[in-house]
Amino acid sequence: MKKILVTGAVGQIGSELTMELRRRFGNENVVAGVHRTKPEGKLKESGPHAAVDCTRPEQVKSVVEKFNIDTIFHLAAILSAVAEAKPNLAWKVNIDGLYNVLEVAREYDCAVFTPSSIGAFGNSTPLDDTPQDTIQRPGTMYGVTKVSGELLCDYYYKRFGVDTRGLRYPGIISNVTLPGGGTTDYAVEIYYEAIKNKHYTCNLKKGTYLDMMYMPDAIKGAIDLMEAAADKLEHRNAFNVTAMSFDPEMIAASIKKIIPEFTMDYKVDPVKQEIAESWPNKMDDSAARKEWGWEPQYNLDAMTKDMLEVLTKRL
Ligand SMILES: NC(=O)c1ccc[n+]([C@@H]2O[C@H](COP(=O)([O-])OP(=O)(O)OC[C@H]3O[C@@H](n4cnc5c(N)ncnc54)[C@H](O)[C@@H]3O)[C@@H](O)[C@H]2O)c1
Repeated sequence: MKKILVTGAVGQIGSELTMELRRRFGNENVVAGVHRTKPEGKLKESGPHAAVDCTRPEQVKSVVEKFNIDTIFHLAAILSAVAEAKPNLAWKVNIDGLYNVLEVAREYDCAVFTPSSIGAFGNSTPLDDTPQDTIQRPGTMYGVTKVSGELLCDYYYKRFGVDTRGLRYPGIISNVTLPGGGTTDYAVEIYYEAIKNKHYTCNLKKGTYLDMMYMPDAIKGAIDLMEAAADKLEHRNAFNVTAMSFDPEMIAASIKKIIPEFTMDYKVDPVKQEIAESWPNKMDDSAARKEWGWEPQYNLDAMTKDMLEVLTKRL
């Protein structure tokens, strides 16, 4: 990795991944690919940025050519809840956009990191200790695009030798950029509301277990996977990775340890609830641990402590 492009760089994961890549590989060597929302603050000032709409292949190509890119972290996507509201847009961005990136990667010999998701599973998948290789019949447009993306990336590796790699991310929790319309957004919002109002109204039911991960682990996982020895990787594009599994009651209890007056009630969003119930309660990530040494640093209480400390200072 010498010259890196991050698409979707202003998004929840992209904004932090871009900064970490700049720290490790040099500010000038990491281009923030932006679409519509302009970068601000450190993201804008610390290194180059360029307009990259992944649905426009000529734009992807010209940025890769101009900056002599060898590695693309392709984070541009439409997330689960928005994808259900706009399935047509989700297909265009998540599938056509990925196809465009892979074609440019093939032409310019770039390695490509593309996140998949727990959304790539569905009701017929075993929801506890979800195996690395299992049934994937998601019932959402987001899931359809994620399974297709995993397969497309595998295909580009096998057929054309493009160095494609990817992780099935669980819900990602961060204290920097707000999430972009996913089913697990509640687990970020709850911390903001705990500090501001000491109360949160949760849109998923009690007992809805989902895999989650704190942002520093998500970023480290992406970079570690891209740096892993290629000959050790059997599952290139769809590694199960998780750091913790909890339901709304557990995250509320973790917050109460630090803010005892915190309370929570429920107003369930039926669309998000249906999606959440079709996703794993807890994935088996032993393949990632074995093949490239995946090892998360944060559990629920460690994450809660850090989230509340950082957000209390900022808010
Ligand atoms: N955040 C999570 O909890 C989570 C969980 C699992 C997987 N993922 C995956 O990780 C990746 C990044 O997610 P995120 O949370 O940062 O999402 P996000 O919604 O915060 O950011 C996505 C970015 O893509 C950009 N974008 C939209 N359309 C585009 C287009 N046509 N061309 C270029 N950019 C475009 C948006 O402007 C946004 O900045 C996605 O593939 C997502 O599916 C995220």
